[in-house]
Amino acid sequence: MVTVKRVNNDSKKKRNKLILLLKIAIVAWTVVSTVLNFIITPEHFEAHESDNHDLLKHEVPANPIHSQGEPMKVAYAVSFIKCGDFQTHAAGLVDASLVLRHSIHKISSRNPESGSKYDYKMYAIVHKQAEECSGQIRNMGFEVVVVDQPLDRSEIKGDYLRKHIQREWCCGESEFIKLFAYTLPEEIIVHVDIDFAFYKPMDHLFDAILYDKDSEEGKKARSMLELERPGERLPDKIGAFLTKDWPQVAPGKFPAAYQAGFLVARRDPSVMEEALNVVREGNYTDGWGYGTGWHGSGHGGYVGAMAMQGLIAYYYDFVRKDAVELNQCRYNHMGMDVLYRTHPNFNPKRLKDKVGKCRNGLEYCEDCHVTDFDKIYSVHYTMCRKPWQCISETSESGRNSKGQKGRAIPVPMMNKDHCYELIHHWHDLRSDFEKKLFALTGDTTILEGSKYEHMKDIFHGHCKEEGNEGYAVITAKNETLYRIHELYEVKQ
Ligand SMILES: *[C@@H]1O[C@H](CO)[C@@H](O)[C@H](O)[C@H]1NC(C)=O
Ligand SMILES: *[C@@H]1O[C@H](CO)[C@@H](O)[C@H](O)[C@H]1NC(C)=O
Repeated sequence: MVTVKRVNNDSKKKRNKLILLLKIAIVAWTVVSTVLNFIITPEHFEAHESDNHDLLKHEVPANPIHSQGEPMKVAYAVSFIKCGDFQTHAAGLVDASLVLRHSIHKISSRNPESGSKYDYKMYAIVHKQAEECSGQIRNMGFEVVVVDQPLDRSEIKGDYLRKHIQREWCCGESEFIKLFAYTLPEEIIVHVDIDFAFYKPMDHLFDAILYDKDSEEGKKARSMLELERPGERLPDKIGAFLTKDWPQVAPGKFPAAYQAGFLVARRDPSVMEEALNVVREGNYTDGWGYGTGWHGSGHGGYVGAMAMQGLIAYYYDFVRKDAVELNQCRYNHMGMDVLYRTHPNFNPKRLKDKVGKCRNGLEYCEDCHVTDFDKIYSVHYTMCRKPWQCISETSESGRNSKGQKGRAIPVPMMNKDHCYELIHHWHDLRSDFEKKLFALTGDTTILEGSKYEHMKDIFHGHCKEEGNEGYAVITAKNETLYRIHELYEVKQ
């Protein structure tokens, strides 16, 4: 059984009550307005209409024409599988969440400067084994949804998958809790990893999901999409937007994985069920490359193939073909090399004729090493390292001068200056958050977190020295922390 255990358990009751109220209100409204239409001037009519806003705003409009008053809310969700995932580095939860939330707010209708017409609501999908951290997660401004694992390993029919899925990256079958995102109440969901920040509104993606393809709005939104393969035919009804993991493919060996850090989708609980059924069937062949993996599709053997990265790629390529692949330099941008120039999975000395060619197989592709920051909608901090790791060192192996793995920016796989720019923008968001919180509260403790000199032009004073230990976390008095939500209230 699949159970979604809401922490706020009476929200469903409230909803039912609201729906009833709403029905009554709609009937009353229809009668009253028909009468009023004949006897009252338009000014009166308008005044009356606004009286109903409080009720109407609780209904998700069938289509996002915002004449009903309130902008439509998009659900932004992250998933937490284990508490330990971030306890090693507290900033990985607290500072990452605060900055992520700040970035979402900035691209939403609650910040009029953004020009966006979509509001937001933040969710954390929390595995029940991580429930003990849910208080902390709630304090970061997320509505917490505690869930059980949607599937038990023993349900998987295929022997190979059943025996091996547990050890798949990132976290075996636990990763499937991400699928609960499809069941959140909002019409549109955005699911991302916590090491993520948004920089530009995505209204055209939301419009393209919500509006009919033949409507004016729908046509306009579709014409604005930045696709990985420009000119590609779009599904009549778009179910999801995603990006693929082209930086990891090998020439002609296997199809690109789904990049599991980013998903924009239409709400649809049946996607979750259908995808889980693919797992239950467990038609997965061991090996690497075409002919292996899910139904022999080639989605096998690579990192994450048995879990979300492979499952979702297979699912949208072969089962429900309604996902649109977005330009990986613009969305879920990682700054990784999308050309064949160096590793991973490519050796320029062995395959000389491929050097400089696009990993996605096209004649031309954008080079994500040098994408203008203005064009980037969202950044996923992966191989440029986490902004809260205070890493500016580079090396070919990705080890730092102390020999620690994963503690330097790997070059030439990555472009050092471009990584610096991405990291700088995250710290810029943090500085903006600190500035606004200081303006609200006058708490001088906040300034303590940004007084450091190390590589100040990149880290904005947030790093005492190079490396994880050098990071100065966001500091504030307790009473200040309780006021953070005031930064995000809707301004009237
Ligand atoms: C697994 O999937 C492949 C491709 O769809 C199919 O040909 C094969 O018969 C399936 N195997 C089983 C055991 O169902
Ligand atoms: C702030 O709150 C934390 C957690 O509730 C508590 O442990 C700490 O003692 C508080 N600090 C101050 C200065 O009140």
